[in-house]
Amino acid sequence: MSFTDTNLSRRTFFTQSAKLATAPLLLGSLFSSLNANTKEGLKVPSWSRSLGTLVNTNAYGLPSIYEKNVVKDILMPKAPTNYTPTSIALTSAVSPLSSLRGAITPNGLFFERHHSGVPQINPTEHKLLIHGLVQSDLVFTMEQLKSFPSTEKTYFIECSGNTGISKSYTKEQKLDDRFGLISCATWVGVKLSTLLKEVGIRLDKAKYIIAEGADGATMARSVPISRAMEDCLIVYAQNGEALRPEQGYPLRLVVPGCEGNINIKWLRRLEVTDTPLFARDEMSKYTDLLSNGKARQGTLVMDVKSVITYPTTVDKLTRKGFYEIRGLAWSGKGKISRVDISLDGGVNWSRAKLSTTPLDRAFVAFTYELEYRGESLMLLSRATDETGETQPYLKQITDVRGFNSESHNNAIQAWSVNTQGEVYNARV
Ligand code: CO
Repeated sequence: MSFTDTNLSRRTFFTQSAKLATAPLLLGSLFSSLNANTKEGLKVPSWSRSLGTLVNTNAYGLPSIYEKNVVKDILMPKAPTNYTPTSIALTSAVSPLSSLRGAITPNGLFFERHHSGVPQINPTEHKLLIHGLVQSDLVFTMEQLKSFPSTEKTYFIECSGNTGISKSYTKEQKLDDRFGLISCATWVGVKLSTLLKEVGIRLDKAKYIIAEGADGATMARSVPISRAMEDCLIVYAQNGEALRPEQGYPLRLVVPGCEGNINIKWLRRLEVTDTPLFARDEMSKYTDLLSNGKARQGTLVMDVKSVITYPTTVDKLTRKGFYEIRGLAWSGKGKISRVDISLDGGVNWSRAKLSTTPLDRAFVAFTYELEYRGESLMLLSRATDETGETQPYLKQITDVRGFNSESHNNAIQAWSVNTQGEVYNARV
């Protein structure tokens, strides 16, 4: 067939399509000979008959109006007329994990936790001071920070209070409210070690870096020097664009795999010291109170964990047949090496398929093919990381720590499915 013939046949195809689009009028007898599915598929919807919205409608793109319910669930004290520093300190917003797909959280749906609201910082006025046990104190502008060699990494951030251990829970509790204090993004910034070398860090004496934010809470945390020199990032971009204000614009510390609170947002100061700061948020909070009244401090790493994100309490198995069980797994210690699924509360386990590439301290998505016959199920997921650590059952955690602390719960999560296909939050 010659080039011209191809063009001709393509043109003929489009002509025929155009005729089919108005088939009931022009090709009545042909149309009536088609099967019902084809007729249904050939119907021209209303949005194909009119001009769409213009390119100048939203210079910054927005989700479809039909996705308007896919938003963060905002957790804050109910309707006081004046928010006080105390009440606003309790605010957070969870990621809608039950509505998301893949291993990256979109910026507008990344979970939020802040302690004095979100400051609106002018980047031309924002600076980062590095001082303490260094050869020369330096102040960096945003422009200077962006002129250093950049690095791009994908890491999850999880609040240590995500999936609190608390004795009280309800079977109606939703995935998002229980697990949504976690998100995963691709971060761009400078290695902290690059900046520490620039100021001449005194590695003979340095033991900690105190990181301090510019928000009203002056959130501050102590980062062990080994971590600071290894893989911490000072980031200014998230998923390809500047950080959002609620994620620390214009500058944030990322301590890969460590509890959310230490990933200081609105970063303005780094002090190199030989002792931890013993800040309020690492002494009275973000510690793990044990049953003997003592508390663990400096528990930074978020252990291996996973959760099935479909089906959960908001879903229902309405028919028998094939379902794709979906979920997310992560570990603060490295890559996920495997995820196993149990349909019977942990008696039998089979391997799930990892559907995205496992990355160091990032989400990996997993799937599992379920042939549902209308029976009751107890769905569990259990992740193992490359260090060989596997998720424990809740009892294994509470036998050691008791129920005093909400933090660092990486227990196996269960979802029960009854014979009506209804799904409930469950504990095993
Ligand atoms: Co901790």
